[in-house]
Amino acid sequence: MKWRRGGVARWSVAAVVAAASVCGVAPVAAQFLEKPTRPQVEPPTGPVRQVIFKNCISCHGIDDYAFNALDRAGWTALIETRHKDLNVPVSNEDRDLVLDWVVARFGPDSKPFPRSYVPPQITTFFTDPEAQTLLGSACTSCHGLDRVNEKRYSPDRWRVITVDMRERGAKVTDEELERLVEWLGRVRGTNPNQ
Ligand code: HEC
Ligand code: HEC
Repeated sequence: MKWRRGGVARWSVAAVVAAASVCGVAPVAAQFLEKPTRPQVEPPTGPVRQVIFKNCISCHGIDDYAFNALDRAGWTALIETRHKDLNVPVSNEDRDLVLDWVVARFGPDSKPFPRSYVPPQITTFFTDPEAQTLLGSACTSCHGLDRVNEKRYSPDRWRVITVDMRERGAKVTDEELERLVEWLGRVRGTNPNQ
């Protein structure tokens, strides 16, 4: 694989992944609980958005980028290695836009999303005071609770955020995390009446 070929950089990849055909057979609920939580990445705005939509989403989405926290050299090497033998033609200009964005968004100072957090099943649930106590002890050292209270998300999205907060330093066990996620999904969920 070469960055430059006749003025055009190429990100090549080995065979178009068979991964798409690997579908689970477990029932939906079990599948959800047994699978590692995946990051969710908002697509960027600006010109890089079009570059990514044009060149980077035919084989896989952009969520997996969040597993990495690298500098420019690291990102360049990661993308080269992962796409070895597969042709992903990208102009030099477009490649630089992608690198600018991934380095700004998932640079060496960011926290990579863990690849293997599997939510444990919980059997007891937080009351409001229990949830507020945990929020007060685990979620107020870096920002106020308004950051939490003003948000409305699905439980799935709350899990992604809380796992991310734990990587940043929030002190919660897996069980506490899941109880908090269940409570947030219930009390700070997407139901417009909440
Ligand atoms: C032709 C298919 C294809 C295209 C197009 C493609 N990729 Fe990939 N990409 C892959 C495959 C295959 C992997 C390796 C998956 C693995 O290692 O399990 C991968 C892996 C990655 C990874 C590593 C993810 C991780 O788990 O750490 C990143 C980052 C990535 N691609 C970014 C990009 C970007 C940026 C573009 C657009 C310039 C792009 N990909 C376009 C097939 C593609
Ligand atoms: C170690 C510092 C730290 C701790 C502890 C922490 N956070 Fe955060 N939190 C951040 C930072 C930094 C951001 C801003 C992230 C960004 O903008 O990308 C943030 C942003 C957020 C957001 C807004 C993100 C969004 O997508 O809406 C929510 C919600 C949140 N935190 C919830 C929590 C919860 C819940 C806890 C406790 C489990 C917690 N935080 C503990 C550092 C922390």
